[in-house]
This record gives sequence, structure tokens and C-alpha cells, in this order.
Amino acid sequence: MCGIIAYVGPRQAYPVLIKGLHRLEYRGYDSAGICLMNKNLNIYKCKGKVSDLEKHVKGEDIGGTLGMAHTRWATHGEPNEVNAHPHFSQDKSLAVIHNGIIENYATLRSELKNRGYKFVSDTDTEVLAHLIYDILKHEKVKLEEAVRIALNHVIGAYAIVVLSKDNPDKIVAARKGSPMVIGVGEDEYFVASDATPIIEYTNNVIFMNDEEIAVIERDRPIQIRTVRNQKKTPYVQKMEMSLTAIEKGGFDHFMLKEIYEQPRSLRDSMRGRLLVNQGVINLGGIKEYEQKLLNAKRIIITACGTSWHAGLVGEYLIEDLARIPVEVEYSSEFRYRNPILYEDDIIIAISQSGETADTLAAIELAKSKGATVLGICNVVGSSIARATHAGVYTHAGPEIGVASTKAFTAQVAILTMMALKIAGSKGTIPRSKFQRYLTELEAIPDKVEKILTLDDQIKEIAEIYKDVKNSIYLGRGYNLPVAYEGALKLKEISYIHAEGYPAAEMKHGPIALIDEQMPVVVIATKNGTYDKVISNIMEVKARHGKIIAVVTEGDEQVRALADHCIEIPETEDFLVPLIATVPLQLLSYHIAVMRHCNVDQPRNLAKSVTVE
Ligand code: M6R
Repeated sequence: MCGIIAYVGPRQAYPVLIKGLHRLEYRGYDSAGICLMNKNLNIYKCKGKVSDLEKHVKGEDIGGTLGMAHTRWATHGEPNEVNAHPHFSQDKSLAVIHNGIIENYATLRSELKNRGYKFVSDTDTEVLAHLIYDILKHEKVKLEEAVRIALNHVIGAYAIVVLSKDNPDKIVAARKGSPMVIGVGEDEYFVASDATPIIEYTNNVIFMNDEEIAVIERDRPIQIRTVRNQKKTPYVQKMEMSLTAIEKGGFDHFMLKEIYEQPRSLRDSMRGRLLVNQGVINLGGIKEYEQKLLNAKRIIITACGTSWHAGLVGEYLIEDLARIPVEVEYSSEFRYRNPILYEDDIIIAISQSGETADTLAAIELAKSKGATVLGICNVVGSSIARATHAGVYTHAGPEIGVASTKAFTAQVAILTMMALKIAGSKGTIPRSKFQRYLTELEAIPDKVEKILTLDDQIKEIAEIYKDVKNSIYLGRGYNLPVAYEGALKLKEISYIHAEGYPAAEMKHGPIALIDEQMPVVVIATKNGTYDKVISNIMEVKARHGKIIAVVTEGDEQVRALADHCIEIPETEDFLVPLIATVPLQLLSYHIAVMRHCNVDQPRNLAKSVTVE
């Protein structure tokens, strides 16, 4: 939800900012803008992507060693040049970029209008530019103090960067609810929504906390205060992220690269944790809470989107293996429906980005009721990772494609280890089975590797169905969340309407949609409900629907019925989601590419949803 970057140092700012915007573009890509300090504040902005901004500035004065830039995912005001950030104060002496939502912007706007300020955009951000300017003018305080006073009037979420023509060596940055990282180089500083634009230059970073304001000045140490004016000591950490991890590495799209990375990302998520020879699962991050987990009467999983689907797999895993009741909640619903929470409840919040606003709010709500909150996050140092009591990182590596792929399988791998760990300690599965399960889990990355060799076959199926308008995905038991996830992947990147459904529920409504045009993707692996799923396939065939089935290697029965079969290796029932999801990711990817869709940056979406 908007990417922001700022730079001060000896380099020309423009190339650093543009490269940074490209790295942050996954966060929003409907308009972009830049502000460079060169005696004046030179602002250039336009509708469209960062590449459009690059064309837009051709021939302009792009000099300067201090500046900031923004790539937008519109909340207030349609995506156009006027609403693009940065936003100027009226006299053009101040400029602001912002990620988040100012909830009381309408009140602030009308107050400022009454005082004679003229607004040119429809954004909530513009109020900040006028408000900070107004405070500077009337209170005669330093820029950072004006920002602090202004933020005390603001309700909502923000990560902002403010530049002032009268402070040509100073960047003021602040955050609440939206992420912000400062990179500390030898004689230069970077500010960004995440570390990806920074690591090329330095791996020394400061993760800003909520309600902190940083003053970042050329050749001076960083100063941090809170909006309540308490001084804070900046805490510089070493960030471990390689440059190759955030580049395409020869693949056409990040999504394809990330699908292909899954054998590696799954191994990384299990490394040092799944110790098969010792018959042990070691989840260091939640060690302190192990006993609480074992004694938990109830676990509530909260997440959004694909992470919610991983949570559903988690429900099946924990109930099946560890025999603890689990509820899975959309964070956006959970936070507003006055849920009943007890102090001995364990909440597991799942998030790739660690920045999803609804999940963050759900965590705060659970904490306020005394519950223990554990996180499963991919982004190290993210807001959710820091807001939870303890957690486990997925170690999937940076996921840039907006459609989540390797993060999902890594989340499921962590949930599998959690469930097995509890089950092993509680004795809800016999020791011999436990050991077999560990061995089987360890073999999963090899099985994913094998599935990736089916890419050409999946591409052929994609070619046949690329022009359909609707599709249905069916699964049962462990494969139901796989069906949901397969459908989400297809709709979000190819814009084909896709519905995930419990296979047996089809006859209660969706069966009415089936005709000879309708592809029905069925996850029909050989597990507990195999025979029932075959009956569901027959029901589709009786209505001339087309069946694309994901089946266990060597399956003859479904092959005789289905139009297409994708064979995946045999594994334990509870491990099937880890492998059955992969062919569906590839199917969506190829269909989207064949339809000329922007796979990595689908329309209307953004990678981190930092607004509710
Ligand atoms: O970063 P998070 O895991 O919290 O994000 C949750 C959803 O926004 C995310 O999974 C979204 O649904 C993806 N576009 C799915 O591919």
C-alpha cells in the first residue's frame, strides 16, 4: 500500500530513488512521484508506473543529493497526476509523501480550508502538508517539532517523509501503523517502506517503532523522538538479505521465480527446526510458549488472503494431529466483531509481509484481552513480528510477486511443524508415526521439485482454458484450503472468475453453474475422502463440465473420468497441501501470462495491505 523512499548523502539522489521505487513497486503501482532538493523542491509526478515517471522526468532538472519518492496504491482520490505524491504546501516550501490513511482528514481539511488553505488534490495526505506548514508559520518551531505537533492532531495510520526547502539537508520521517526502515550508510542515510531498496548500499538498519519521528540530517547522527516528545536511542541492527533474493534471476516474472524457489524455501523454513535423526522439532522462536501451547484449550488463527488459507490448513493440522480446537478468523472480521477471548487462548497471526493492517489490529485486540499472540511472518523485523509475543519466521526469502506462492507453502510448513511438535509432546500421535511423519515432511521439498518438472504439461492445460470466463475449484478435508488458494491465485492474476468450494457443497448451489464451458479443478488425491471426491467428479461429468484433476501418481480411477490429470507424488494426507498447491500456482501463472496480464503487479492489488 504505497512505497516510500528517501535519501540524503553524497550520491545523486535521483538514481537511488528511482531504483528504490522499482523495488517497492509491488506495494502500489497506480501513480508515482519524486521530490528532489536542488535549491527548490522539484516535484515530478504522474499517473502510472515508475517507468512512466522515468519518461515523465526526461529533460527536467533531476539534480540533488537529497530527495524522496513515492509509488501509490490509491485510497483517497483516483489515481492521477494531481493525487500522486509528493504533496506540496501552498507556498511550495514543504513537501510530504505518505503511506497509510489519515482517518480524520475530512475534519482537518475543513478546518484548514476555513483558515484559507486551498486544496488541489482529493487525498488525505495533502492535509498534512498544509497542517505542518501552518504550525511552522504560527509557532515558529523547527520542522521536526512542527511535524510532531501536527501528528498529535492526526488519527489514522501513517509512514511519512517531510522535506522543507528551508532545511536543505534534513529529512523528517515518522510512522504509526505503516512500516518504515532507516538505512545507515557510512556518510549517507536511506528511508524506505522496507529494506529492499536499502540493502544494496548498507545492511545497517533501524526499524522505526510506531509513533516515532526521526530527524535524518546530512553528516549528523540520527535523532529519534516520539510524538509525545520522548527521546529514543536509535537501535541499529544488521539486516540479512541478499541482493539476488530480490532480483528476477533470469525468470520472466518474480512469481515464476518464487514458485520455482519453493524446494529451497521449504528447506530453509525447516532447516535447524526439523531434526529427523534426533526425532525432534525445534521451534526456537516460540520455545518460551511451548508449555502454554501444549495446555491451550483453544487456538485462534487470524490472517487475511492467502495467509488465511494457510491458517485453514493449520486448523486441519492442529485439530487432526494435536487434538486442540482451532478457529480460523479473517482478521478484518475478528477485529470488529467483539470476539470472546480468554487469557489462556493462543492466537496465531499469520502474515507474509508482517504489515497487514487488519491482522495487526486483530493482534492488538487479542493482546488487550490478555491472550498470548504468536506470529508466523516472512518479513524479518516487520510490524507483526514485533507486535506478537513470540513467533516463527518462515524464511521463505523476499516475496515480490503480488500473488503469494512460496510464502504460503512456507507458512504451511511452519504450521505443520507446530502441529507435529505439539502432537509429539502431548502424545496424540504414537511415537512410531511421529518419526515417520518427520521423515515424510523432510521429503516434501524433493517432491515439490518433481512437480515443477510438470510445468510443460501444465502449460498445455493452460493453453486450452486460458479464455474461459469462470472456473470452480473443489477439494475436501486438507485439500479444501488448496482449492480456495488455487481459485484465489487464478482470479487475482488472470481476472478469471474462480470459486473455491468444498467438493460436497457443490450440489447445494454451484452445480447450477456447470455446463460444457466450465472447467472444474478438483484436488482428488488418494486420501480419506478419495471415493467421495470421485462421486463429486461424476456429478460434474454428468453435466458435461471439464475436469482438471490433481491426482496421486499412478491413479487410474480419476484418470478414466477426468479431462486432464496432473499427477503429484504420494505423501501423507496432512502433507498434501504442501505439494498440491504448486501445480495450481503454475496453472494460474501460465493462464495469466497467456492472457497478457501483469502477473507480478495485478490490477487494483498491492503486496502489503497496510490500510483496512
Ligand atoms: O502479507 P500478508 O500475508 O498478511 O497478506 C495477506 C493478503 O493480503 C495476501 O495473502 C493476498 O491475499 C495475496 N495477494 C494473495 O496472493
